[in-house]
Amino acid sequence: MKFFVDSADVEEIGELADSGLIDGVTTNPSLIAKSGRNFLDVIKEICSIIDGPVSAEVTALDAPTMLEEAKVLRGLAPNIAIKVPLTWDGLKACKVLSDEGTMVNVTLCFSATQALLAAKAGATFISPFIGRLDDMGLDGMELIEEIREIYDNYPKLETEILAASIRSVGHVKQSALIGADVATVPASVIKQLAKHPLTDKGLDAFMKDWETTGQTIL
Ligand code: E4P
Repeated sequence: MKFFVDSADVEEIGELADSGLIDGVTTNPSLIAKSGRNFLDVIKEICSIIDGPVSAEVTALDAPTMLEEAKVLRGLAPNIAIKVPLTWDGLKACKVLSDEGTMVNVTLCFSATQALLAAKAGATFISPFIGRLDDMGLDGMELIEEIREIYDNYPKLETEILAASIRSVGHVKQSALIGADVATVPASVIKQLAKHPLTDKGLDAFMKDWETTGQTIL
C-alpha cells in the first residue's frame, strides 16, 4: 500500500519524507487555507521534497476553466496530479487531462457509481472520503469495499483507489485489508501507525536489562 501525506504543511511533509516511507502528498483548498500560504508556492515546495504524485486541486467549477487552471498547476512540476471534483464537469476535465497523459485525482467521491465513472474518465486516482461518510453515521469502509469489488470486476480499469478522509489508525488498517491501493493520511495518524504500548513497555524493559550488563555496542 502506498502512503500519501494529507497535508499542505511543508515542514511536516519534509519531516515525514525523511523516513523514506512517503509515496506522495494530497492537498485541498481547505488545507491550503489552513497553511495561510500562497497555493502555488506551497505546491512547488512540496514537489521539491517529494518525488511521487502531489495532488493540487483546481478551484473552477466548469470544465474549460478547470483545464486552464490545470495547465498552470501542471507547469509547476512534473509530479503534479491534478485534483478535480467528482462533478460532471470534473469528469469531463478528467477525461481530457488523462487522454493527454496528465495524472488526475478525482476527489469528493461518496458513491461506487461515482467511482465507476471516474475510472471510465481515466482517473489515475479515485478519492473516496471515508471519515466524512462515517461522520454522517454511514459506513465509509463499505464504500471502499464496493469500489474494490467493482474495479476488480473490470481489470482493464487502471484507476487506483486512494482512501481519503482518513481519521484513525483503524481506517488505515481496514483500507489495507480491503486492498485500497493508496491511503492519504494526516501526519499525526501516520506517526500513530508505528505506536503500540507493548512496544514501548517491551523496549523499556530491554533497556533496563541491557544497562545491568554494563556493555556497549559502539
Ligand atoms: C484528500 O485528498 C482529502 O482532501 C482529504 O483526505 C479530506 O479529509 P477530511 O475529510 O478529513 O477533510
